[in-house]
Amino acid sequence: MVHNPAKPMAFLCRRFTESVETALYKRYDLRINKNDSILSPDEIVDAAQGSQVLFASATEQINGSVLRQLSPSLRYVATLSVGYDHIDTAVAQELGVGVLHTPDVLSDACSEIAMMLMLNACRRGYEADRMVRSGQWTGWSPTQLLGTGLKGKRVVVFGMGRIGREIAARARAFGMEIHYHNRRQLPSEQEDGAIYHGKLDDALQIADVFVIAAPGSPQLKGIINAERIALLPPRAVIVNISRGELVDDDALIHALASGQLFAAGLDVFANEPNVDPRYRELDNVFLSPHLGSATQETRDAMGWLLVDGLNTLYQGGIPSNLLVPR
Ligand code: DGY
Repeated sequence: MVHNPAKPMAFLCRRFTESVETALYKRYDLRINKNDSILSPDEIVDAAQGSQVLFASATEQINGSVLRQLSPSLRYVATLSVGYDHIDTAVAQELGVGVLHTPDVLSDACSEIAMMLMLNACRRGYEADRMVRSGQWTGWSPTQLLGTGLKGKRVVVFGMGRIGREIAARARAFGMEIHYHNRRQLPSEQEDGAIYHGKLDDALQIADVFVIAAPGSPQLKGIINAERIALLPPRAVIVNISRGELVDDDALIHALASGQLFAAGLDVFANEPNVDPRYRELDNVFLSPHLGSATQETRDAMGWLLVDGLNTLYQGGIPSNLLVPR
């Protein structure tokens, strides 16, 4: 394809929503990965040669080698995600490649998914759906599929950032007592009555429901391991909307299978989309395929945040969603 010199060349690794793609075509000489497959780092390097902007998402590994190979032309990586653990930001900084992401606009959608997981884990959503669908429901019974209620229970939000605070607000409306663990205590207006635990292990000990909303990072890999799961009260519930890598799957699966935990709700997995097959065998885990920000409004807003942020940069300004300046 011949480059149109009037527009910056850009490569789109995954298909964005229609209105966002239309905007990108207007502004960029856009090459796209038409079939929306997940590209390997080598495939990205091949396809994005000569691009000034690389539009990616959490499914692409934008590692140091990708950045170095594209850096002669690359000015910006724009990821359709708030998480950026898939991008080597240190190498981006070293090479002068700017990185943009999509904070804030997805906090409502992600917190809704956290509540979906919490409700389905606590109220046995998977088993309930299966009972009706399979025709095995023989009628109402006083002791059928008894779950655990949310009202009056203690929820611990691990990672009380923008998404964590939206989860807390929704859990509060369900009558839950809000606790959290973060590296730093929030100012009281942001805490809104939530109780801070400076040590993760202390927070775990009081969690009826433990929600993982901390950002993915190599430092947090495997942090929810067997020892920490053992600190939870018996029959607690774990919800994960962050990254699967934060959880030790062997430990979580063992705790679910043995009844040590009541249930779990998981939207994220290590090594996606290759979910550990043992999860599929467990009735007390509610599974969803990384849907946190998956609403039409949110995916549009995320795309527009990247479009507008890049416009600002090309006009010499600094957008609020610039993670790594160039
Ligand atoms: C995010 O925005 O980081 C979500 O996990 C989607 O990738």
